[in-house]
Amino acid sequence: MLQGRRALVVGVANARSIAWGIADRWRQEGAEVFVTYQSERFRKPVEKLVADSWGPFDTAGNAIPAAACDVTSEEDMAALWRTLQDRGFCYSSPSSPLEGGRCSKATDEGTEAAPRAAPEARSRGGGGVGASAASGAKTGAAEQAPGGSATTSNSGSRGAEGEGQGSGLRLQRQGLPVGSGVAAPRKTVDIVLHSVAHAPTDAMRQGFLMGTTREAFVSAHVVSAYSLVSSVRHALPFLSPGASVVALTYIGSQRAAANYNVMGPAKASLESCARALAAELGGDTTSQGPGGVRVNCLSPGPVRTMAARGIAGFDQMRREAAGRAPLGRAAEIDEIAAAATFLASPLSSAVTGQTLYADCGFSAVV
Ligand SMILES: NC(=O)c1ccc[n+]([C@@H]2O[C@H](COP(=O)([O-])OP(=O)(O)OC[C@H]3O[C@@H](n4cnc5c(N)ncnc54)[C@H](O)[C@@H]3O)[C@@H](O)[C@H]2O)c1
Repeated sequence: MLQGRRALVVGVANARSIAWGIADRWRQEGAEVFVTYQSERFRKPVEKLVADSWGPFDTAGNAIPAAACDVTSEEDMAALWRTLQDRGFCYSSPSSPLEGGRCSKATDEGTEAAPRAAPEARSRGGGGVGASAASGAKTGAAEQAPGGSATTSNSGSRGAEGEGQGSGLRLQRQGLPVGSGVAAPRKTVDIVLHSVAHAPTDAMRQGFLMGTTREAFVSAHVVSAYSLVSSVRHALPFLSPGASVVALTYIGSQRAAANYNVMGPAKASLESCARALAAELGGDTTSQGPGGVRVNCLSPGPVRTMAARGIAGFDQMRREAAGRAPLGRAAEIDEIAAAATFLASPLSSAVTGQTLYADCGFSAVV
């Protein structure tokens, strides 16, 4: 389903993370996947998880496709995209609003029909800051994708500057490889998953009124909602035409869910941000991105994860949701990952600005 796609998955903490279930599924579906974790504290366990599941990896240009990124830090996010370029996962466009085409002189790559260009032809992408120095390094890195697969075998939805963004988008809608027959000096990301949420412990342990201090309100919204906006802003220069952004939300955004407290308004904000991003980035021609970018939310039912442990009475919440759901059970992680795969894939090419529920119907009943 995702053969030849390149996906960035933000928010893996451990094997129980919804982000991990989705990342693993996307990898099985043929995507090249790079994951992020919040901080150094998660590095060893997440790297081990990735290596044990997707390895083997070595250190010679084929490092474990994982890196730290605190989504509240602009520096971390900028550093993440530098790392992704350094690892050969993507190259920025020459018109990049944030990076100024740092790696725009990188090799053509990523379309089956595009022959490997001669060195002089590779520079057609334009020389951004540090382009010539970056070019050689990136060329080498591009030969082998993180994860060991040759990136030239990926064909799916790569951006293709020579072709024009509008026509790239049209090709993608038709399910055709973007860039057929033309040199493609960009290497772009097709899918971004935002699977991050946090609210201060006190705000989750006390009731909504007393627990929602100004600080807790701001913190929950910045980590859980604003981070989608800033993540997309950082990702935009590297996205393919028609890329898909998926953010994890919860029905507590729409209904007052017991003990969900300040996370309710934070998730409502996340969903609203997703709609605003969908409206702004969806057009064929946009000055702000590759065009046709879709942004959707996925709303699973309760799953036992590290984040879920922070919700008082979570097990009871899960039992009640399962009991009241039309399907009479809670959604399994593989079912949530399947729904995420739909949103990431061309099967959902007409779906944007939406929230898709993967909760066995719980959200549909009273
Ligand atoms: N577990 C559920 O029942 C459930 C249901 C619906 C939606 N969700 C949503 O799914 C998403 C993933 O949560 P999960 O349940 O898999 O739990 P999880 O704990 O595995 O994932 C949450 C992730 O957010 C990360 N995170 C928190 N603050 C961060 C920061 N400042 N920078 C970077 N990363 C940060 C954590 O490190 C962790 O990796 C969240 O958005 C959550 O609200 C969860």
